[in-house]
Amino acid sequence: MYRALLITVDFRKREDWTAEERSMELSELTGSAGAKIIKTMIVNRHAPCPSHFIGSGKAEEVAAICAAEKINLVIFNNDLTGTQQKNLEESIGVKVIDRTQLILDIFARRARSNEGKLQVELAQLMYMMPRLTDKGTELSRLGGGIGTRGPGEQKLEVDRRRIRDRIARLKKELESLGSRRGMMRKRRDKFRIPSVAIVGYTNTGKSTLLNAITGSSVAVRDKLFATLDPTIRKLTMPNRREILFIDTVGFLKELPHHLIEAFKATLEEAVEADLLLHLIDASHPKAKEQAEAVYKVLGGIGALDKPIITVLNKIDRVSPEEVVRLKDLLGAAVAISALNKEGLGGLLEKITRSIPIFT
Ligand code: GTP
Repeated sequence: MYRALLITVDFRKREDWTAEERSMELSELTGSAGAKIIKTMIVNRHAPCPSHFIGSGKAEEVAAICAAEKINLVIFNNDLTGTQQKNLEESIGVKVIDRTQLILDIFARRARSNEGKLQVELAQLMYMMPRLTDKGTELSRLGGGIGTRGPGEQKLEVDRRRIRDRIARLKKELESLGSRRGMMRKRRDKFRIPSVAIVGYTNTGKSTLLNAITGSSVAVRDKLFATLDPTIRKLTMPNRREILFIDTVGFLKELPHHLIEAFKATLEEAVEADLLLHLIDASHPKAKEQAEAVYKVLGGIGALDKPIITVLNKIDRVSPEEVVRLKDLLGAAVAISALNKEGLGGLLEKITRSIPIFT
């Protein structure tokens, strides 16, 4: 079991999320990765130190904390360069990872399908490639789960070539998997079964909603990223029309670029859907910012031009006044509790009403 120290470095830029809120999100992510949080720190700096990110003096301080608290993993809530990471590991004496690596590790743990696993591996390799800066770099960083160690050290050039080859092979495999899915989608088009993609920030209740409306049993866990692969279920609506519901991967603010690229096949389900259900966790203090982060990613993958029904979920956890306030604020059309199966009839009606527009 990893005993983790979480460090959020605050550069005092004006941001939507305060350092405390970012730190809280990192805690949720760390919990999802299965590590125990021993301590969290917020470090203020004007600019990153090129060699040690937080500066060598601060790194020594962190080393002392790790020794005293038996901490064996330090997670930075920022992106580190290969050099910074290596220097920090040397100074602190324990494994050091950054936010992107943490997210990749979570994806690696959650990948279920062949395609999901290939996508994660591709994302990991793309992350590693520019970090192979000197001879000491180990190929062993690769692999699912925090701290998984692979084969021993390799010479840099061999590493590079092997990684490039593997990336090319993975892209090819994913392409063929993607086109097979494209064919399945065409067949769906032929029979004119409309599809609805459930999108939303991670942990907003997408899998729970899919379960509630289709009686399926997609894994539901109170962990971020419980759903990695697109999961499709067919439902016969009250008007006897069939609809495909697609559960998509959870969004995150600042989703690392490589992840967006590598998970494009997963997000493509959202691009191709006839209607998007944008699920928002009404009980989350940052519901508005989360919704904005989702819109940003949807815009980035070209999915914003389709009909979207905005759905407030988890209303069992907030007051009726708060529901009204959020509905106004977010332009939400429907309020539900996926857990208590509350408001689902209204949601299905709204979906049914939207269908003639696109069939
Ligand atoms: P990712 O796959 O991580 O993106 O998550 P998700 O959006 O699919 O969320 P999931 O359905 O796994 O639900 C996350 C947590 O929220 C679980 O603990 C659910 O039980 C809980 N949850 C979902 N819907 C509701 C709801 O309406 N009310 C309450 N109180 N909890 C809910």
